Amino acid sequence: MIVLGIETSCDETAVAIVEDDLVRSNLITAQIDVHSRFGGVVPELASREHLRAINRAIAQSTEHALISMRDIEAIAVTIGPGLIGALLVGVAAAKSLAMVLDVPLIGVNHLEGHVESAFIDRKDLAPPVIALIVSGGHTMIAEMPEHGRFDILGQTIDDAAGEAFDKIARFLGLPFPGGPEIDRLARKGNANAVRFPRAMMGDDSFDFSLSGLKTAVIRWIRERQAAGEDFDPADVAASFQEAVVDVQVAKTLRAAEERGRKTIILAGGVAANSRLRERMSEEAAERGIDVVVPPPRLCTDNGAMIAAAGLRRLARGESTSLDVAPDANLSLA
Ligand code: KG4
Ligand code: ZN
Repeated sequence: MIVLGIETSCDETAVAIVEDDLVRSNLITAQIDVHSRFGGVVPELASREHLRAINRAIAQSTEHALISMRDIEAIAVTIGPGLIGALLVGVAAAKSLAMVLDVPLIGVNHLEGHVESAFIDRKDLAPPVIALIVSGGHTMIAEMPEHGRFDILGQTIDDAAGEAFDKIARFLGLPFPGGPEIDRLARKGNANAVRFPRAMMGDDSFDFSLSGLKTAVIRWIRERQAAGEDFDPADVAASFQEAVVDVQVAKTLRAAEERGRKTIILAGGVAANSRLRERMSEEAAERGIDVVVPPPRLCTDNGAMIAAAGLRRLARGESTSLDVAPDANLSLA
């Protein structure tokens, strides 16, 4: 079965063609240049850029996959959560295609897409799993007892992990998006240089809070600057990253142990973080738990994860009405 997947929930216009387990094309038109001078994604600009890019992205996706439009058997599209204007562009394009090609439309939750990206190319992998979903907009631990079904165990009560990475990076004068920059810089720093706070939120909570950490890092930098003291930004980056990773690893492992699950999936843009991957894999292995992380290209927003999630839903006989409206706050469970 050949599915075209469209993802426009934030700042990437992403279109992919997936045939069963094979990603035949996976194109991403990034908007970094448009948003970088604002230090974050400007919703109105994101919608306009999607409009500009979407038709070309769809045409190129079939060219790269060496198929014709008529070979497409279903259209999958992100219907939320995300920026409403940005989602609307993808959903409108998907509906038109589904109508013209007379094929089913499948609305996909963006977060389900992130989790499903771990199953691409992994026939050996099956639910139940525990997923840590960490991106620019989300930080969540969910249990997936079977494909398409989720129980949310905990989530952030303030900032998302990616958002915190981006803000601290900006404060350190690093370009946007800051996550990969902090990741790189931190490799040259000492993770024990500064002991920043770890918000555990109580012994039995799976929730996260990142705003206190963010404030602590910014205050620490300002105090050094006011005192005219030198500091190594690499040490700050490494110490901040370590505080984020400590909490995420501890909570995700506890979730897996409490629920008796033997597989952890790391999903979302922040799952590309090398320290998170390393620590989670090492500490899970000590407990006999497997950690699955999609390749970096499938971690950040992409169309293949949406097509893959759509394929699963289609296989279960599901499809979505052409009347569907995107939902900026669509819940995973
Ligand atoms: O999943 P994603 O592409 O978009 C959203 O759905 O939000 O995630 C983007 C986020 C950005 O905040 C970016 O800074 C972060 O993922 N990110 C990283 C890394 N690569 C991307 N954060 C930490 N380390 C990385 N290597
Ligand atoms: Zn995402």
